[in-house]
Amino acid sequence: MSQQQDILRDAMRRLNLTRDAFSERLGVRRRALDTWLLPADSGESRAMPEMVGKFVAEILQREALPASGADARPLGQRIAAEGRPHLLSVAQFNRDSLEDLFQVADVMQPIARRQKVSRVLEGAVLGSLFFEASTRTRVSFGAAFCRLGGTVCDTTGFTFSSMAKGESIYDTSRVMSGYVDALVVRHPEQGSVAEFARATNIPVINAGDGPGEHPSQAILDLYTIQREFSRMGKLVDGTHVAMVGDLKYGRTVHSLIRLLALYRGLKFTLIAPPSLEMPAYLVDLVARNGHVVEQTPSLEEGLRGADVVYATRIQKERFAGEEIEGYTPEFQVCKALVDRVCKPDTILMHPLPRDGRPGANDLSIDLNHDPRLAIFRQTDNGIPVRMALFAVLMGVEHQVARSMRDAGWRSPAHIGPDDAEFDGLD
Ligand code: NCD
Repeated sequence: MSQQQDILRDAMRRLNLTRDAFSERLGVRRRALDTWLLPADSGESRAMPEMVGKFVAEILQREALPASGADARPLGQRIAAEGRPHLLSVAQFNRDSLEDLFQVADVMQPIARRQKVSRVLEGAVLGSLFFEASTRTRVSFGAAFCRLGGTVCDTTGFTFSSMAKGESIYDTSRVMSGYVDALVVRHPEQGSVAEFARATNIPVINAGDGPGEHPSQAILDLYTIQREFSRMGKLVDGTHVAMVGDLKYGRTVHSLIRLLALYRGLKFTLIAPPSLEMPAYLVDLVARNGHVVEQTPSLEEGLRGADVVYATRIQKERFAGEEIEGYTPEFQVCKALVDRVCKPDTILMHPLPRDGRPGANDLSIDLNHDPRLAIFRQTDNGIPVRMALFAVLMGVEHQVARSMRDAGWRSPAHIGPDDAEFDGLD
């Protein structure tokens, strides 16, 4: 970790301090801290005085828990699944290991922003097996692997794979292991990716197993919440998160609620029509960890006062013949509703894809120019987070900072037409 932004961001996370509290602790103006946190290439960015850097290191040594608590093993070992380098469930993380992963993702940012290049995974090949529809998860895992210098081989759908000929998961997984160095798998059955993992010693990442889990999505969602909160001076502890939509079959919310439960004193409002509620075992788990959980079918009531609104698509493809009542077009998170019941600093999230057709009961496209809409910052964060996961599972996370060179091409400072609005905010 070399950049001052990374050092400061990491210190605030470990000390659990907002920007206001951290600048007070350092005895500097909040404005000064903000300029030290700006990306190095922004015109407003300033170098932090050497003395401040030393002071930060000293405070960390005295007051923060060491990165890994009592556990000094490499991160890949600490998050292992039954001793193996897989990512199957968010249950593999605790708060320390999660924040250590975020630190690796921060290191990846200059590569994700196309300012730097790295070849730490040169020669490695990723096998990408998607037996369900996907755009962003499949492409972002592939792009993340390529940006670390690796290459990708993929197959999509059952039709074009030998599974259409009756091949077992065991055989497919073992065969692929002879060809590639890591596997990313999406499959319609819950538990199927764990079955892939049992048949191989190479890292396997769960990119969605039916209604089960989607751990990398939840990790990038939480990383996004932390970054958004960091610029607003908020902490994840004590925050109010509203989850909206198909909470029964939506695997992203199943993973995200478990990760958020690692923090302290949250309030969750779970808003879903009666037949699409969050599974009871997850509600119990979160409540047992000391969080407040309220469930309501009323969008208006549930969204009121939330710091984060996380909307999800209705997962019709997973319905087992249920009749869904109450999931009418009124069940839409639109600009008028957000303006009425949300706060000026509420962040609006969605794992995407969202149904953008008129009358769809999803996150409305009329919010597209609202700065509270964080969905594209979420998708952008998928790259550094997935790069971090590969680096950690393949044991190269400490080589990345040293391996970086300047990119030989130029890409736009803002990749989306509305991004400039957030210039300098993180
Ligand atoms: C989600 C998924 O596939 O679980 N998308 C994603 O990966 N970002 C959500 C969905 O399909 O609704």
